[in-house]
Amino acid sequence: MSHLKITGRRRLSGTVRASGSKNAALPMMAVAILADGPLRLEGVPRLDDVRTLVDLLGALGVEATHEPDDTLRLETVDPKPTRADDELLRRMRAGFCVLGPLVARRGAAVVSLPGGCAIGDRPVDLHLAGLAALGADITIEHGYVVARAGRLTGAAIHLAGPRGPTVTGTANVLSAAVLARGETTITGAAVEPEIVDLGQLLLAMGAKIEGLGTPTLRVTGVDRLSGATHRVIPDRIEAATLLLAAAITRDSIAVTGVVPGHLGEVLAKLATAGSALEIGPDWVRIAAGGAVRPVDITAEPYPGVPTDIQAQWMAMLSLADGRSTVRDRVFPGRFMHVAELNRLGARIEHADGTAVVTGVSRLTGATVTATDLRASAALVLAGLAAEGETVVRHLEHLDRGYQRLDEKLNRLGAEMERCDDD
Ligand code: EPZ
Repeated sequence: MSHLKITGRRRLSGTVRASGSKNAALPMMAVAILADGPLRLEGVPRLDDVRTLVDLLGALGVEATHEPDDTLRLETVDPKPTRADDELLRRMRAGFCVLGPLVARRGAAVVSLPGGCAIGDRPVDLHLAGLAALGADITIEHGYVVARAGRLTGAAIHLAGPRGPTVTGTANVLSAAVLARGETTITGAAVEPEIVDLGQLLLAMGAKIEGLGTPTLRVTGVDRLSGATHRVIPDRIEAATLLLAAAITRDSIAVTGVVPGHLGEVLAKLATAGSALEIGPDWVRIAAGGAVRPVDITAEPYPGVPTDIQAQWMAMLSLADGRSTVRDRVFPGRFMHVAELNRLGARIEHADGTAVVTGVSRLTGATVTATDLRASAALVLAGLAAEGETVVRHLEHLDRGYQRLDEKLNRLGAEMERCDDD
């Protein structure tokens, strides 16, 4: 295992390019199981969750080949396996996205039930209810989801739970419904850009879907899906993390290769917090400077501020000129980073899904422990602004979901070094 040593208070400047979206690429890779032909996904980020899913798919008979320009070619060479590898699934929840494609294409699946994780309780009841409505026979046996089905049949399915729509649940059910006989209507569907992108890929494979980007999806099942070539959308969470890096150090950078429309609420809040923004067709330039103004942030389903940058916002607001509140409506328990930010001198109190952040004038370096992917990113941002040296332990969390964030920040002028643990 390794850690990151950050020497704080270096100035950031220049231009950085966002990678392809992790959360779009993962469910797209899983639908290679559905295709009668190779899938070529362009712009797949080089990060650990992608590598883990390549291994998981490999054991399910889907061969992966890396081509230039971050293109990943996926092709089914053995359509018989139906049991997903336990150990690999434990490393990465998104592996659960193979469930829908396996049931729809191979008529059976055994996939271990994901447990809770550092960001809180993460049930999959909506995934299972949706697949059962399509005709799959689903039981839970010894901690595994065991699913069997003949040809699935279209149905009316509602996918929103008490905390809103489910993103990977929509991916799972949509990628099963495309091969079901007849019509499926999904209400309460996730409208995240990553789901729209998955839908675009399925359309390119020959699926019939209407309503992408709205909460109601109408799917007319087809008998077979072909291979296709598709470019993955840019990672809006990585882009937002990079913009917040400049916001916390009060510097000016440009992030290119982005879809500014996917960042709407994030850009609006950055402006409220005192950053000047210039927005081009596929880039955003941020010029921070002056004091960080306090803002209230509520993480919500798209188009709200994403839960996946709630922690990074909190890091930034810890240096604001006043008091901010941060809520998370998607994962109300996603506050493990609070204690670690406080180790760096932040003043954050947290109760009942709300954090009150009282801005401080400076953060000071310390050794902190990352508990999950986005908490790690928040600690890296705080380390950029802190005086002296910050050590972020458990770098494996960061590497799961960012394509070498440290290298990108170093190219902008940060000073951070990866070190192996003793
Ligand atoms: C996806 O997780 C993302 N992961 C998460 O990103 C992201 O935080 C989350 O969506 C919310 O945007 C991937 O795309 C691979 P959900 P997912 O099902 O699909 C409740 C990151 O850091 N719910 O949309 O697992 C659930 O408890 C990761 O990149 C049910 O009640 O999240 C939560 O409160 C972390 N029943 C809410 O819905 C279900 O069956 C939304 O969760 C499913 C979910």
